[in-house]
Amino acid sequence: MEYEASVFQVFPEPQPDGILQLTQDFRADPREGKIDLGVGVFRDDSGATPIMAAVREAEGRLLATRETKAYIGLLGDVAFAEAITDLALGAALAGSDRLANIQTPGGTGALRLGFDLIVSARPEATVWVPGPTWLNHIPLITRAGLKHKVYPYYDAATGAVDFEAMAEAVAAIPAGDVILLHGCCHNPSGADLDLEQWRQIAAMLTSGGVVAFVDMAYQGFGDGPDPDAAGLRTIFSALPEALMSYSCSKSFGLYRERTGLLTVQCETARDRTHALGQMKLLARTSHSMPPDHGAAVVSTILRDDALRADWLAELDGARLRVVSLRSALAEAFGAAGFGDRFDFLKDNKGMFSLLGIGADAVARLRKRYGVYMPASGRINIAGLQAQQVSRLVEAISDCLEMEPVK
Ligand code: LMR
Repeated sequence: MEYEASVFQVFPEPQPDGILQLTQDFRADPREGKIDLGVGVFRDDSGATPIMAAVREAEGRLLATRETKAYIGLLGDVAFAEAITDLALGAALAGSDRLANIQTPGGTGALRLGFDLIVSARPEATVWVPGPTWLNHIPLITRAGLKHKVYPYYDAATGAVDFEAMAEAVAAIPAGDVILLHGCCHNPSGADLDLEQWRQIAAMLTSGGVVAFVDMAYQGFGDGPDPDAAGLRTIFSALPEALMSYSCSKSFGLYRERTGLLTVQCETARDRTHALGQMKLLARTSHSMPPDHGAAVVSTILRDDALRADWLAELDGARLRVVSLRSALAEAFGAAGFGDRFDFLKDNKGMFSLLGIGADAVARLRKRYGVYMPASGRINIAGLQAQQVSRLVEAISDCLEMEPVK
């Protein structure tokens, strides 16, 4: 008899993920001298992504002392949530009885749970995202069942935020809508707001009745853990209701351990209790409980003075490495005859910048030189090695197929 159900015939041709597929393609490329500027992963000058020393030490301690793998609970590791809110929001805000925290599978899990929560509270809300934003933000919003709109953010002509255009759009967001903001190290552009601009945005959102959702995925990679959190803290101080998704992937190098947190600030302690109930329900019907290992590592590090100091020092080393690669790249472009065209690379923060080159040039770079980056022309500077800078600049000059400005 013929099988007639054919349930799984309906799917369209698979589309590769615009960022994650690059890792596979890069690995399969046999060419020597290939350069991987794709997924946002930190690498040292040997091309390795090392386990941070404090993480290794914490893992050793956990291995030696843990006696069970029994379930922890829907909220995950509560000590982890306290340590992360303290690190991100600072002690004063973190101590509030209006914060609902739930550990999530990575920052992505926190974003999804946050959007699911918004759907349960206000399904008609529109989520406003910066133009451009992380490749996965809009799919996450859409899969959760929400609408989105884009507010102007990045100005490709200057490599910085177009604050005037942003402020004008933010002032017009209807009450009850949600704005997604990148806490620091904007992905993909590396263009961040300064503190005064954060203050202005926070004031507009407060008077406009807009809920802010701050995505915090790179704390420590811009100017250091505290300055990087200044915008987030400004938002949480000013707005009665706000959300934070936190990722430990980059700041603790825990990528594959899927370690994240969703924090929801409510208007009252009563709202917080009810929101937490809803968050547990959403988690229960999604992944149930989050993976434990990464969170246990992070809370071990953050609650031990020596380990914490060690982690901070290593994170700062990673940050300084990116800062120096940014300078080296901008200088190499200048020396190659590009004038000040790429000087913005020095001002951008964190792992990423947009080269401002077209998808055709991105394709040529890959074909001719084995240089991999997403079609947007985003480069992961944290994945570059110092000895690759001159080859990269030569490859880009060639693939732009234009005379550099003299
Ligand atoms: C990136 O943008 O490269 C990272 O956030 C990793 C990812 O999941 O896309």
